[in-house]
Amino acid sequence: MSKKKSVNMVVVGAQWGDEGKGKLIDFLSQDVDITARYQGGNNAGHTVVVGEKEYIFHLLPSAILHKKKICVIGNGVVIDPKALLLEMSELKKKGVDVKPEQLKVSGLCHVVMPYHRVLDGLRESVRKNKIGTTGRGIGPCYSDKVARCGIRMVDLLNPRVLKAKLEDNLTEKNETFSKVFKQQAFDFDELYKEYLNYGKLLGAYVCDTSLFLNRAIDKKKSVLFEGAQGAFLDIDFGTYPFVTSSNTISGGVCPGSGVAPTKIDKILAAVKAYTTRVGEGPFPTEFTDDFEDDIRAKGKEFGATTGRPRRCGWFDSVLVNYSVMINGISELAIMKLDVLDGLKEIKICTAYEYKGKRFTDFPMDFEVLSDAKPIYETVAGWSVPTRGVTEFKKLPRNAQRYIKRLEKLLGVSIRYVSTGSKRSETIIRY
Ligand code: IMO
Ligand code: MG
Repeated sequence: MSKKKSVNMVVVGAQWGDEGKGKLIDFLSQDVDITARYQGGNNAGHTVVVGEKEYIFHLLPSAILHKKKICVIGNGVVIDPKALLLEMSELKKKGVDVKPEQLKVSGLCHVVMPYHRVLDGLRESVRKNKIGTTGRGIGPCYSDKVARCGIRMVDLLNPRVLKAKLEDNLTEKNETFSKVFKQQAFDFDELYKEYLNYGKLLGAYVCDTSLFLNRAIDKKKSVLFEGAQGAFLDIDFGTYPFVTSSNTISGGVCPGSGVAPTKIDKILAAVKAYTTRVGEGPFPTEFTDDFEDDIRAKGKEFGATTGRPRRCGWFDSVLVNYSVMINGISELAIMKLDVLDGLKEIKICTAYEYKGKRFTDFPMDFEVLSDAKPIYETVAGWSVPTRGVTEFKKLPRNAQRYIKRLEKLLGVSIRYVSTGSKRSETIIRY
């Protein structure tokens, strides 16, 4: 038997998403054989910059640009076939033709239907506490999965199964649409035809990805599992109900791909040198003044999926510490350090205070979290730019101190530091 030990790793976001997972995964996937998504859908927006070209991936794994690497969309992902086909055709225009040999899509993935997208918007419109979803139908699709009425990718390949499922769904959904929301009903024939066609167009990519991944692992191939969103958008551990509808944490890999926990060797997390969040919900370290606009402009903090301005704030070690625990993070990558260039002082949140009580662990109570006053430690900033620096020792002394301070507060090694959006603008410390 071969002695080669292949390493299977998970890359997750440790905050509220948009940590720079796309860049990190594109970079790390050079050394693995397969990259697999395991949750989320086209609510994700992963940006990869190669040379002068920028690519934004929503459903396709971020490693798709590496032509010899195989990409997998695992069963835990929800797929809007129209969005997937559009992403593939846009990529083709940029010279990347995704072939079935390179992309494997699980037949068990649930399909985002037009009624999911419409319902996403309608639910938001009647809510007092809006979530600020991406409007891609993600929540309603996962709801149907759990309610056991969802339509899966494999169903698009079988006209009889699709017919039966779609009929049942439309009976129920059209009733809700017309009676509750006073909306027009969906036409069976139209949807049936459209989705059968998606089955034809995507059929060659559909397979049992759990078998594929496990057989590849048996043959000592290495897999990188690509998380979407971030730990605090996790359906269980996030700032509920201002979360997404899947398990975004590393543990989501197993049900979302059919690969057992015993096969996973390493968990890496991307974390921004500060914090951002898109959509509604508590955010204790959010900036409250014009400074937010400065950081947003410097960090180009606009949603890659919806274009919405991202809310920005200081680094929150209470939040990330919890993330380290629930994800079992073994190594960290600090992203976008260069955005903090030129600041006199930088703050790090080390605890929250609420009604005279101090919290060093992430609180469960919604009111505590919403009204928590962050307790900051202030450190000195740096004036020499870090942009494009590729060696740790070449960083300004205070930037080195900042990284080391975060490392100490989080109790995890920071192996990578990103100093720009390009592949090359990365420090690998060991
Ligand atoms: P990546 O993978 C940031 C947020 C939405 C909203 C909440 C629920 O690029 O980090 P949903 O449409 O999922 O039901 O919306 O989750 N959200 C994200 N925020 N990055 C993402 O993905 C996100 N995907 C969803 O803004 O607050
Ligand atoms: Mg994003």
